[in-house]
Amino acid sequence: MDRIRIRGGRPLHGKIAISGAKNAALPLMAASLLTEETLILRNLPHLADIATMTHLLAQHGTEFSMAGEHPDGGHMGHVLKLRTGEITSTEAPYDIVRKMRASVLVLGPLLARRGQARVSLPGGCAIGTRPVDMHICGLETLGAEIDLDDGYIVARAPEGLQGGVVVFSQVSVGATENLLMAATLAKGDVVLENAAREPEVGDLANCLNRMGARIEGIGSDTLRIQGVDRLSGADYTVLPDRIEAATYAMAAAITGGVVELLGARPELMEAVAAALSRANVTMQPTACGVLVGAAGAGHKDSSPGDGLVGIDVTTAPYPGFPTDLQAQLMALMATATGAATITETIFENRFQHVPELMRMGADITVKGATAMVRGRGQSAGSGGGGLHGAPVMATDLRASVSLVLAGLAAEGETVINRVYHLDRGYERLEEKLSGCGADIVRLVD
Ligand code: UD1
Repeated sequence: MDRIRIRGGRPLHGKIAISGAKNAALPLMAASLLTEETLILRNLPHLADIATMTHLLAQHGTEFSMAGEHPDGGHMGHVLKLRTGEITSTEAPYDIVRKMRASVLVLGPLLARRGQARVSLPGGCAIGTRPVDMHICGLETLGAEIDLDDGYIVARAPEGLQGGVVVFSQVSVGATENLLMAATLAKGDVVLENAAREPEVGDLANCLNRMGARIEGIGSDTLRIQGVDRLSGADYTVLPDRIEAATYAMAAAITGGVVELLGARPELMEAVAAALSRANVTMQPTACGVLVGAAGAGHKDSSPGDGLVGIDVTTAPYPGFPTDLQAQLMALMATATGAATITETIFENRFQHVPELMRMGADITVKGATAMVRGRGQSAGSGGGGLHGAPVMATDLRASVSLVLAGLAAEGETVINRVYHLDRGYERLEEKLSGCGADIVRLVD
């Protein structure tokens, strides 16, 4: 299994091109099941999760062709043509679904177009139980009959899905997306209340409208969908990845560097910018993206932890601070001056990075859903923001990248195991970071 080796303590300086958003690309790919025409998706990132979705769709009958790279040498992602002339199988097997929870997003489209689906209960990152009860209840509200059989969701709507009002008991990105896709072909009007407002949901809704759907309320927590008989193809560009962008913003800050995030959209990162600003990190819009640096960063003797101060942050659905950045923020806070508290409200088991960060010298105490981080910034004259390198590993994507951030700041060598987690969500991570001066290499066994 590949590992990543980082020799820390080098401030990052330069530009990083932000890829297309994984969490927008996956539902957009699933949406191709809704039409027999060709859906062209641009700016898709090269990621293991995208490959997994390709395998899943292929066995439902989707045909793919690469339509080349963007003209800037691939830095704007690739272009994929997806065409599902006929759905040849309505089963999403365990072997594929277990690799990636987002596979459950084929449920809504299969049911809407074919009136039946058999989808394995999902796996994915080990960050809590992550049930799919709201996906199921929502589809039942639209008239589907659903049973659980041997680890599979078996759904039927032989006469098609109906209109209805779905009120989500909790904000769920995936349930909103599944219901949104299903509703586009319903016989009647569908209202989704307490819908997720994440920009990736908006991206899906905009693409569906481009395909002929009638969705109103995009960006709000109430989506109104007027069902149509059929959808057509479309040509759509995936929005930039705000989680990747904010991860690199924190990489710049933790190393005492200054980085421009090319293609990043500041309006999608307001909660992050507000939190980082309290921590003494500035994010300024530029003509090409966002420029990031911690207070004091960029001076010739700036070093990890410089200028950073501890802050209190609670994760929340969009427009709040994203759970997908909680682990990265914790690494940043471990190097800051003063205490920070980080409260996780979305997933119940998302502190798996804590023991690994502690092995690198972080001072963290977890009580229930809150982690208290005592920043090492002051304990210094020590370099590395008070962190030191160590062999570490993590069990999910964002936890793994938080260890990369800690490794970039730490004194000495960090080796990160189980790199496949990073490959699920960060495109060309080593290349992007080493392009800004990081000493980071992949060790291939
Ligand atoms: C998506 C993102 C993931 C992000 C998460 C929250 C993708 C591919 N993944 O995951 O990166 O961390 O949103 O922003 O877009 N829940 C239920 N029942 C359900 C569905 C969800 O109880 O039927 C709970 C979950 O366990 C969790 C919360 O709702 O506690 C939010 O989960 P959800 O928004 O659905 O996450 P995903 O769509 O899986």
